[in-house]
Amino acid sequence: MDRLATRIEQSLAHIRLGAIGKTYDTGRGAVTALEDIDLDIQRGEIFGIIGRSGAGKSSLIRTLNRLEDPSSGKVVIDGRDIATLDESQLVGLRRRVGMIFQHFNLMSAKTVWQNVALPLKVAGTSAADIERRVAELLELVGLAEKRDRYPAQLSGGQKQRVGIARALVHQPEILLCDEATSALDPESTQAILALLKDINQRLGLTIVLITHEMEVIHEICHRVVVLERGRVVEQGPVWQVFGDPQHEVTRSLLGTVHHDLPDDLNGRIHPERSGEARALLLDLHFTGVSRRDPDLLSIASVLGAGTRLVHGGIDRIQGRAQGHLLVSVDSSEPAEDILHRARGLADKVGGLGYVALAH
Ligand SMILES: Nc1ncnc2c1ncn2[C@@H]1O[C@H](COP(=O)(O)OP(=O)(O)OP(=O)(O)O)[C@@H](O)[C@H]1O
Ligand SMILES: [Mg+2]
Repeated sequence: MDRLATRIEQSLAHIRLGAIGKTYDTGRGAVTALEDIDLDIQRGEIFGIIGRSGAGKSSLIRTLNRLEDPSSGKVVIDGRDIATLDESQLVGLRRRVGMIFQHFNLMSAKTVWQNVALPLKVAGTSAADIERRVAELLELVGLAEKRDRYPAQLSGGQKQRVGIARALVHQPEILLCDEATSALDPESTQAILALLKDINQRLGLTIVLITHEMEVIHEICHRVVVLERGRVVEQGPVWQVFGDPQHEVTRSLLGTVHHDLPDDLNGRIHPERSGEARALLLDLHFTGVSRRDPDLLSIASVLGAGTRLVHGGIDRIQGRAQGHLLVSVDSSEPAEDILHRARGLADKVGGLGYVALAH
């Protein structure tokens, strides 16, 4: 029965955090970094953690390999409460949970090969096995040719590849990344993300990733959690959280775009128009709930012949369309009638909201 319960637990989550709290005792009193965090991370997913500086992201990720012990609550990996591990089991846990960092943490006096080999040496692996494993890993991260270089002779992206190879030496099932691409230029970031994605798919690794770069989440994460002052304020699939952020913190992290409206549309009657004609401006907002693409023709047919596209930005996250279409509706009809139809449009197309900006 116990075993069955464990198996059910395993099928539910690879990593389960229950009511995690973390308080640091400092010379100047206690600092609460995490409060009452509940999270499930599924096997094989890429899970993102975002939040402002000081929100508790690093504190949280460090509880997953017991670099930090939580002050309260439980971290359960594979159905096992990791607080109950003894010394040697803890060594085992650290091997199952690899970690990479913003500043790579490589040994400058050792070559690429030696940096990757070191954890295997420490673990007492035979020379032949080390040779085979390191060669395999350098191949995987695309650094086979650089095996005898020193870190100072590598680019940032290459250093992070060494960091990744080193994190994978013990064939971990979980990889933790704390700002792993923050020190890299956009091109190297893309290459490292492609590598992480590849590792996730090829090796079935669960990846937990902290970043302040929203593009990173957008690019490779399946789900994301938003922390603020040590608490979870929002979480869900990336398409949902990015497409329809509910919390002010999420919106500010995403830097939700406010369109600058062309002057002639900004709440004024068109100067060249006669009579009562006004341009009603609608911001149609696609949240990705519907898997369908925005259908311009049906939008125009619902809103009327005077519908024009002013501005648009539609993006795809996990195959779902999201973003804004700013349309102006020129009509002598009362604005309320147009708004009424826009409301109908929102009902018809799931996940389409609208905001009337000006008329
Ligand atoms: N070892 C420590 N001792 C005391 N306070 C700490 C310690 N580590 C973190 N803190 C405090 O805990 C809070 C959360 O810090 P944490 O490093 O987890 O934030 P973060 O979200 O990773 O921030 P950043 O984006 O700047 O890396 C902060 O108030 C921080 O000052
Ligand atoms: Mg941090």
